[in-house]
Amino acid sequence: MKINSSQSLFLGLILIASVVTAQSLHPHDDEVQIINGEEFVQTPYGLMLRECVHNVPSGTHIQESEDGSVFLTNDEKNFVKRVQKNEKCLKAAPTEKLEVYIDNGGWDLPANKTLSKFEAYYFVPSTPRTTHDQWLYYFIGSQNNDGSGPGGSVIQPVLSYYKGWYFQSWNCCLQGMAYNSPSVFNITPHDEVYGSVEVNDSKATIISQNKLGEQSLLIVDRSERNFNWIGASLEVIGIQNCTDYPKGRMTFSQMNVTLNNEVTAIPQWDDTFGPSECLGKMIVQDPQTISIYHNTLKE
Ligand SMILES: *[C@@H]1O[C@H](CO)[C@@H](O)[C@H](O)[C@H]1NC(C)=O
Ligand SMILES: *[C@@H]1O[C@H](CO)[C@@H](O)[C@H](O)[C@H]1NC(C)=O
Ligand SMILES: *[C@@H]1O[C@H](CO)[C@@H](O)[C@H](O)[C@H]1NC(C)=O
Ligand SMILES: *[C@@H]1O[C@H](CO)[C@@H](O)[C@H](O)[C@H]1NC(C)=O
Repeated sequence: MKINSSQSLFLGLILIASVVTAQSLHPHDDEVQIINGEEFVQTPYGLMLRECVHNVPSGTHIQESEDGSVFLTNDEKNFVKRVQKNEKCLKAAPTEKLEVYIDNGGWDLPANKTLSKFEAYYFVPSTPRTTHDQWLYYFIGSQNNDGSGPGGSVIQPVLSYYKGWYFQSWNCCLQGMAYNSPSVFNITPHDEVYGSVEVNDSKATIISQNKLGEQSLLIVDRSERNFNWIGASLEVIGIQNCTDYPKGRMTFSQMNVTLNNEVTAIPQWDDTFGPSECLGKMIVQDPQTISIYHNTLKE
């Protein structure tokens, strides 16, 4: 078919429109920062070397091997990759015990108990009034804070805001690397979205699901780790003004925690970090409900 100039102009406009409206599945890759000639991206673990952050299809299994390489496999998506051990990533890895939360309810599980499942609904807060390239990360999650297994691992479904809301599963920091599955969108203020981390003898599964049932899912080898700490948190990067925070509440609700013996646990949440800027506070409404507020005096 011969395309005349008005047709090609039309096709060109469609192309531009689709580029403008396409939402990136891995929004951190839209904002690569060059520092001393190296590419960095923003993650829930702070700024990381881009080569240490792996974007993988939803449902991918992340398996560590003895030699420090990591196998990524996803039969359904026809995806296989071997990530070689990378000294640069190991050296630059975020600290093993990640404690940079601004608002956080945390619980050290009772001795000799390890997590089976932690799930919650996330009430999506209002959209921030101003945008200054801020990143907001709301998540429940779990870590092995007892040094078990081959290094620290964080498993978390992360409700994120960067110029828009999205929900994404993340794992960090096997061999200094972070892994994330494609974001799900269609998330608007006052939605209840669902996040869970579930651990069995061999694997940890991380689910981030929107109200349409669309999921971002990762499966990570447990490798003898005891996931013995859980938390419900907000982490932020690049806030310049209080209006860069949502106004009012974000809530983690109907939180269910089960431990290795399959008994439903009643968490005793600590507020390790106390109040934060812009009237920030974490309120434990009951053991199954934690709210994080900013920019309001109301509770
Ligand atoms: C935990 O396990 C260790 C080793 O098996 C044991 O010595 C200790 O008493 C246990 N602690 C509790 C609180 O059950
Ligand atoms: C927690 O458990 C209750 C009772 O089984 C259930 O109604 C609720 O939906 C669960 N919460 C989540 C986030 O699924
Ligand atoms: C553990 O979870 C994984 C991922 O969901 C699943 O494939 C596997 O069958 C489970 N293993 C056991 C022993 O339940
Ligand atoms: C910063 O925040 C204040 C109130 O919190 C608001 O009045 C002002 O417009 C904001 N400025 C910018 C540049 O967003």
